[in-house]
Amino acid sequence: MRKNIVAGNWKMNTTVPEGVQLAKEVVEKSKEVPAEVGLIVATPFTHLCPVAEVLKGTRVELSAQNCADKEKGAYTGEVSVGMLVSTGAKWTILGHSERRQYYGENDSKLVDKVQLALAAGLKVILCVGENLDEREAGKHFDVVKTQTENVLYHFTAEDMKNIVVAYEPVWAIGTGKTATAEQAQEIHACIRKVLAAKFGAQVADDTTILYGGSCKPSNAKELFAQPDIDGGLIGGAALKADDFIGIAMSF
Ligand code: PGA
Repeated sequence: MRKNIVAGNWKMNTTVPEGVQLAKEVVEKSKEVPAEVGLIVATPFTHLCPVAEVLKGTRVELSAQNCADKEKGAYTGEVSVGMLVSTGAKWTILGHSERRQYYGENDSKLVDKVQLALAAGLKVILCVGENLDEREAGKHFDVVKTQTENVLYHFTAEDMKNIVVAYEPVWAIGTGKTATAEQAQEIHACIRKVLAAKFGAQVADDTTILYGGSCKPSNAKELFAQPDIDGGLIGGAALKADDFIGIAMSF
């Protein structure tokens, strides 16, 4: 049975002391959330070590937001999967639309990154999602199918145990515009079908698929009630512990 997860993507927000404080608040309030719901915070690289200290022995797991596409060496400014593991991080987000849009992240680079992350023992939250032009042109199913296939078809059913998919329509990220529960559900069902075609129905059924894009306490319940929506990847609302935990209480 797949797991419900709520993951907070802090993006490039908070200083280290602010992030440590936020992590402490999330830990404190996490006691209100049913034990079976997975909780993850994805912090900036600089915050991983101190936040790992805060999360030690708690149910809240630590994630990075990206990793290098090389193992180690002369790659100034990059952070390797080995470095992430050494901080205590258990996860990394990969392929976020902001990375695809602003930093030239493409599917082939993502294959390398997912490969390295899994080999290092990290779990991966792989993001897919169409932009506004693609949705208006009616290409959203095709775009999401292609992004999913281009990366995940390089992996095995065994690898899928350590991969979560996040559907994040780019037009809904940070815009206040949420996909309707129906719009999200139909894409989630499509992603599950794409996974089933390669890995079989059982693996598809066991894979957690998160929704992301202006998810907040007021709309999470309706989204999470959909049969193929297993939780959320939360940006803006993850910066307030009350809102983040409010979302996690919405199953
Ligand atoms: P948002 O961001 O919740 O601020 O829309 C979601 C994300 O990009 O992960």
